[in-house]
Amino acid sequence: MKVLITGSEGQLGRACVDLFSKSHEVIPVDISDYDLTLVSDVEKLFHSIHPDWVLHCAAWTNVDKAESSRVEAMAANALATELLVAACKEIKAGITLVSTDYVFQGDSSTGYAEDDQKDPVNWYGETKLKAEQAVQGYGQIVRTSWLFGHGVNNFVLTMRRLMAENKNIRVVDDQTGSPTYTVDLAEVLLFLVNNGTPGIYHGTNSGRCSWFEFAQEIASISGYSSEKVEPCSSQEYPTPAKRPACSVLKSSYLELLNYPQRPLWQDAVKRYIDSINQE
Ligand SMILES: NC(=O)c1ccc[n+]([C@@H]2O[C@H](COP(=O)([O-])OP(=O)(O)OC[C@H]3O[C@@H](n4cnc5c(N)ncnc54)[C@H](OP(=O)(O)O)[C@@H]3O)[C@@H](O)[C@H]2O)c1
Repeated sequence: MKVLITGSEGQLGRACVDLFSKSHEVIPVDISDYDLTLVSDVEKLFHSIHPDWVLHCAAWTNVDKAESSRVEAMAANALATELLVAACKEIKAGITLVSTDYVFQGDSSTGYAEDDQKDPVNWYGETKLKAEQAVQGYGQIVRTSWLFGHGVNNFVLTMRRLMAENKNIRVVDDQTGSPTYTVDLAEVLLFLVNNGTPGIYHGTNSGRCSWFEFAQEIASISGYSSEKVEPCSSQEYPTPAKRPACSVLKSSYLELLNYPQRPLWQDAVKRYIDSINQE
């Protein structure tokens, strides 16, 4: 298949380009090539490429800035997806949208199933829910959370930088999620694209932890002392956008398709850090 991968310079896009290139013809695009909020750019893109499938990883991902740049964030996440879906329908191409647990309120004690009630926790969540609505009934929606992988910045890199500087680090201990390696999510996305069945799916690494526990694991694997990492509450670490207390996603639909259990998040962090150390 000819697979158009949007957001190809982003952390998930890079992992998907690497993996999909082994079995598909991949066309990677990012904002320097085409701005997906522009009708003319999406038309130009589809006329020149004619994809069989669109893996839509591009997004406005600055969750805090989304609160103050509401129109721009909505355009980048919702309008761009609406334009892509319309273009896909015209040429009967498939589409997979990568979405987020932030479409939920985050107050569950056990985690969210695919069909649970949506109630976005912040504006970024609102924009991604609008994007989901454009895809629902036609393509695939794959929600994920707490991504890390090769790219410019992420939680693992930030923690390692602060630890290397021997700084005291306070990390919130009352938000729970499943850290997810882009390389492992790319495998899930490849499986789903090859399978083609429309629907909503949840794709994360297995297990769950708090950001504080995540930071402790990063210290331990990286060989830094975890003594300088201290737990704090969300109230002590205010951010412009509200964060969910629970980001855990249950993935029963992926299991119904007989997709094997994803690796544990600790194993994923170890593989990621090993690969950074080898660079
Ligand atoms: N990161 C997470 O923890 C997380 C959690 C749950 C879900 N997700 C979802 O997973 C997907 C991938 O996330 P990521 O962390 O890989 O994101 P990322 O690293 O920020 O990459 C997104 C890419 O999309 C590009 N982009 C933004 N607006 C665009 C536009 N109008 N036209 C074309 N390209 C545009 C960005 O360019 P610029 O950098 O120039 O803006 C960037 O290269 C996103 O859909 C995100 O919502 C992420």
